[in-house]
Amino acid sequence: MATVSEPVDAAFYKAADAFFAQNSGTGLTFDDVSLATLFSEVLPRETNLETSLADSLRLQIPVVSADMDTVTESRMAIAMALSGGLGLIHYNMPERQQLSEVSRVKNHVHGLIQEPIKVQPEQLIGSVIELIEGKRFSFSTFPVVDDQNRLIGLLPGHVLKQRYAAKKVSEAMTPRDALHTILKSDLSKDPIACADRFFNDHIGIHKLLVVDKKDHLCGLFTLSDVERITQESRAQLKPARDNSFRLICGAAVSATRGANGELDKERIREHVAALVERGVDVVAVSTAHGHTKGVGETVRLIRETFPGLPIIAGNVTSGEGVEFLADCGASAIKVGQGPGSICTTRIVAGVGIPQLTALYVASRSAAKKGVKLIADGGITKSGDLVKALTLSDAVICGGLLAGCPEAPGQIMEINGKLYKQYRGMGSLAAMKAGSAARYGHSVKDATRKMAAEGVEALKEVSASLDTVLTQLVGGVQSGMGYLGAANLQQLREKARYIRVSPAGQRESAPHDVIEVKTGGENSGQ
Ligand code: XMP
Repeated sequence: MATVSEPVDAAFYKAADAFFAQNSGTGLTFDDVSLATLFSEVLPRETNLETSLADSLRLQIPVVSADMDTVTESRMAIAMALSGGLGLIHYNMPERQQLSEVSRVKNHVHGLIQEPIKVQPEQLIGSVIELIEGKRFSFSTFPVVDDQNRLIGLLPGHVLKQRYAAKKVSEAMTPRDALHTILKSDLSKDPIACADRFFNDHIGIHKLLVVDKKDHLCGLFTLSDVERITQESRAQLKPARDNSFRLICGAAVSATRGANGELDKERIREHVAALVERGVDVVAVSTAHGHTKGVGETVRLIRETFPGLPIIAGNVTSGEGVEFLADCGASAIKVGQGPGSICTTRIVAGVGIPQLTALYVASRSAAKKGVKLIADGGITKSGDLVKALTLSDAVICGGLLAGCPEAPGQIMEINGKLYKQYRGMGSLAAMKAGSAARYGHSVKDATRKMAAEGVEALKEVSASLDTVLTQLVGGVQSGMGYLGAANLQQLREKARYIRVSPAGQRESAPHDVIEVKTGGENSGQ
């Protein structure tokens, strides 16, 4: 809608091409700019955050968890996909373990307890009571199985009383022929809907046991879980699934070299083939410098061997780098050299480009080549995410998610505060654990001198991933509402930028007050 103020607005608030051309020669990052608001008829809650990283790879929210050994293993990848995003499982682990991490995500049936705690018929009720107290279980119904894991009964919570302590489980259990079961092979593509229908049709039944054709116990649905999940499914963040209704999952692969220093093509092919067999939806060729012969050959090799497989590759910060990886066959390209919260690349190697300028330059080449862009690193608050999404299709977050309980690693207490480890994949410890190739070193160098490009750090333990993502996504939706953007494409089209002075930056954060409560405590903001 045209307004009389448009000419003056246009002189100050510039679209990407004009703004970045005017600032060429200066590297800008998130806090250097602010976005101008526009007339809006869009309510934040009505905005659509769907994005795609390849024709066959759609996400409900444009957020990817980093392929770092303190951020993404199966638990994080499951939680990311359940919230509509994507987790990239890191490669600082033996290949076999990475494959089983992928399998865990792809086989995860939301709501199905795949390995319920079971009891044996000869056990005494007293020992089951002790088990519950010792392990502090919050549930008290247990499937009863024989030593072949065949289902023979269900021990209901109401018999777990001290007066029956000396009786055997077999005397108190509901026997097999009185149990409600479903064959695993009869679970439809949407097992939760299947269990939901069962509980509707069987008034008063709260447990549904899943068995195979030989009556081995394969899992358990409980009414309360199914109710919680069906309620959640009406919530904003919808899971990201493949065509077979499985959660989506990505995995990092490295440009592995053999003893002679040559690319080990056979090993790379076998690794990716095994990942594909496990159902991986996308592989990420993750390196610090993606505009190199080795990364190009790796991407080309994967593209030729697996024509339909989405490939993420990086990292680059130049238009030429984007075009190079696009020509090699990458579907989405990671942009970011040095913006990460644990990165020291700019200090150690003296290279890298402030992230917003890098994204702009990359975005022009991505548009020319028809590939997607992922903004990788440096996101510390939801406002950064909005700015990144004006020039990219998705963002990768490491530090923002590393404090979540879903991230790998032990929680430690220091001076009464809880922390989790977060380390750069280019830190000495991570490179020794396997990521040396990502930074152009050989694992054999581990005992010799390697220049680390990342630090080992701690993150304060944060809320669970869905809470953190809800906050982040809420911020993105607010930003879109301010710009009148109903979806991410409109956000990219409508964004207008202005540089912010140091005083302007101070003005952007709370100031001249004594803060008693931070807006985003424990929420990643
Ligand atoms: P954030 O800011 O989200 O960044 O914590 C995560 C991203 O940082 C990159 N990364 C590194 N970069 N040295 C680097 O220069 C490192 O040791 C390192 N480790 C991770 C990576 O792109 C990740 O997604």
